[in-house]
Amino acid sequence: MEQIPDKLFITGTDTDVGKTVLAASLCRGLGAGYWKPVQAGRQPMTDTEQVKHWTGHPDSFFYPETHCLDLPMSPHAAAEEEGIEISLDDFILPDFTQKRLIVEGAGGVMVPLNRQYMIPDLMNKLGLPVLLVARSGLGTINHTMMSILTLKHYGVDLWGVVLNGPRHPSNEDAIRHFGYIKNLYSFPQLGSVTQESLESAFINTFMHHAP
Ligand SMILES: Nc1ncnc2c1ncn2[C@@H]1O[C@H](COP(=O)(O)OP(=O)(O)O)[C@@H](O)[C@H]1O
Ligand SMILES: [Mg+2]
Repeated sequence: MEQIPDKLFITGTDTDVGKTVLAASLCRGLGAGYWKPVQAGRQPMTDTEQVKHWTGHPDSFFYPETHCLDLPMSPHAAAEEEGIEISLDDFILPDFTQKRLIVEGAGGVMVPLNRQYMIPDLMNKLGLPVLLVARSGLGTINHTMMSILTLKHYGVDLWGVVLNGPRHPSNEDAIRHFGYIKNLYSFPQLGSVTQESLESAFINTFMHHAP
């Protein structure tokens, strides 16, 4: 098994691809803390509240958002609407009691934080290795390859890729091959998201299978 880095930045090929589910599974499996630097939209709940709910971890495992915006929009747009200025300098890696930390981005990769910077600039500012979450099925080669090439363009340390959902071996093979991805994992569709299902999916995904 490839050693999972102590700190990981989770991004996705899109919004709603399963970043928060993966974050919760990694937090549960590793006993890691969680930080969502930018949250845009609070309904039905914030990602921090969701991960708290799914993992059952105490409040001490959670670091407050640097920017928690009301509107479910791109962070740059939500901030502009709300008269807030987001600066890269605002984001400082939490000095945590937990050694391990899972950081969750907002939306996909090319998501603006302000008129100057996008999510990969935040990854580089924080200096964290990145895990890219993608859908497992039809259409994912395109979205995943575009995200990988963009991350490479920014010089981000891309640690691995997770294909979330029903297994699709030819997509796994294509992304490993064309993306030069060593750590390629498949995370299962969970019947219901619970502490137990998150933990067993963590073990099956990251512990039992060679990437
Ligand atoms: N592997 C999975 N098994 C079951 N439900 C999932 C899985 N991945 C994502 N979901 C569901 O899909 C929705 C979007 O997932 P989420 O993790 O919130 O995406 P993101 O953080 O990328 O926006 C949620 O309702 C979540 O419960
Ligand atoms: Mg999320």
